[in-house]
Amino acid sequence: MTCPAWDVDPLSAEFLADPYAALNPLREAGPVFHSPVLDMWVVTRHADIEAIFRDPATFSAAIAQDPLHPLADETRAVLATGFRAGATMSNADPPKHTRIRRHNLRSFSARRIAAVEPLVRAKAAELLDDLLTEREFDLVEGLTFPLPAWMIFSFLGFPSEDTELLKSWCGNRTLFSWGRPSVDEQVEIAQNMVRYWQYCERFVDGRIADPVDDFTSDLVRVHLADAAELARDEIVGIVYGLSFAGHETTTNLTTNAVRRLLEHPEAWKALCAEPGLIENAVEEVLRFDTSVIAWRRITTRPVEIGGVAVPEGARLLLSLASAGHDPAAFPDPETFDIRREGVRDHLAFGKGIHFCLGAPLARIEVRTVLELLTARAPDLELVPGQQLTFPPNVSFRGPQSLRLRRG
Ligand code: HEM
Repeated sequence: MTCPAWDVDPLSAEFLADPYAALNPLREAGPVFHSPVLDMWVVTRHADIEAIFRDPATFSAAIAQDPLHPLADETRAVLATGFRAGATMSNADPPKHTRIRRHNLRSFSARRIAAVEPLVRAKAAELLDDLLTEREFDLVEGLTFPLPAWMIFSFLGFPSEDTELLKSWCGNRTLFSWGRPSVDEQVEIAQNMVRYWQYCERFVDGRIADPVDDFTSDLVRVHLADAAELARDEIVGIVYGLSFAGHETTTNLTTNAVRRLLEHPEAWKALCAEPGLIENAVEEVLRFDTSVIAWRRITTRPVEIGGVAVPEGARLLLSLASAGHDPAAFPDPETFDIRREGVRDHLAFGKGIHFCLGAPLARIEVRTVLELLTARAPDLELVPGQQLTFPPNVSFRGPQSLRLRRG
């Protein structure tokens, strides 16, 4: 089978406003398309994407974090002044990935994750105390942006007084690697990446000098016992990467969850009456309107995907949004059903050796926010007529603002 072209620009405002309108007919038409705009192969079907995730020898993760388009010389010059991130996890292949992930898995211990839950609940409640005094408010600004930032920074061990500074350096990081930034935008983002990287270096050096009881110190102890197992720069890369991985992904997921539930008032009412349904509702949001809509791989040899020949070195865009709406995996996929059976088969967190390490934390955050909102503001509704906008990148999707009001 030859590979047809897909002419939609996945960075266009029209596509981002409703990717499913374009992806559903695409998936029906075939398993793989070549996107001339991106010079990438777009993979549409759930079974093919799952098989790709499970075959890291054929489908390398090396390009997962690369800028989508080549960087300008000016940008590279800025990065050369002090940004030294190499492949650590999401963009590393075995055996390096296996070694680094093993230590991270241990540090994401059940004890540490369980300890996060009451802290997230207390912080979310504090943010809501402010927000719910207003009759109308922006959920992103008041809750779903600050909460995950605060949570991942405290999990890593960053001092809370640095939160605002760190947040100010985070702006537009998704645009840098997953969008089409202008040269001026690239340079500004790169300057903040250098500042952030240098902060992570100082932070890790502090923990090496004086380890405490936090996630980063767990990694530091491995390094102090055997630096060949985990190098200092690898720990800096992990801390840098996690502070990003645990941030906008979860902001967007929580915002998508509240949006979709309020768009389906019968589902919202059911959660208010029966909070035990929240856990499955979160999984349905991950299937129906995930916050990481696409992820990347590169082929290490010529291969067939769904019967379509793809060459060696092909850059693949795995459409996780499309996979969640594949009727071969989820019957009646356009129906948002918080009681759906088998919904955990979604690919929103990946599968196989790179399966999202933060999935338990992300689930805790979304569940906690929904528990608090349904208990404290069951009369919540979307402000009608608002125009949602989405950041222009191929992977991270959620409304930039979501206006809510008390009914
Ligand atoms: C606290 C929040 C989160 C943290 C700390 C986190 C962390 C990570 C890390 C470290 C990886 C790389 C694992 C590896 O390569 O071995 C990863 C992969 C991934 N995460 Fe997350 N993540 C978070 C939230 C999310 C959310 C909310 C989503 C989407 C709904 C998501 C989707 C993914 C995907 C699609 C991958 C790639 C899997 C692959 O390459 O096969 N993550 N995450």
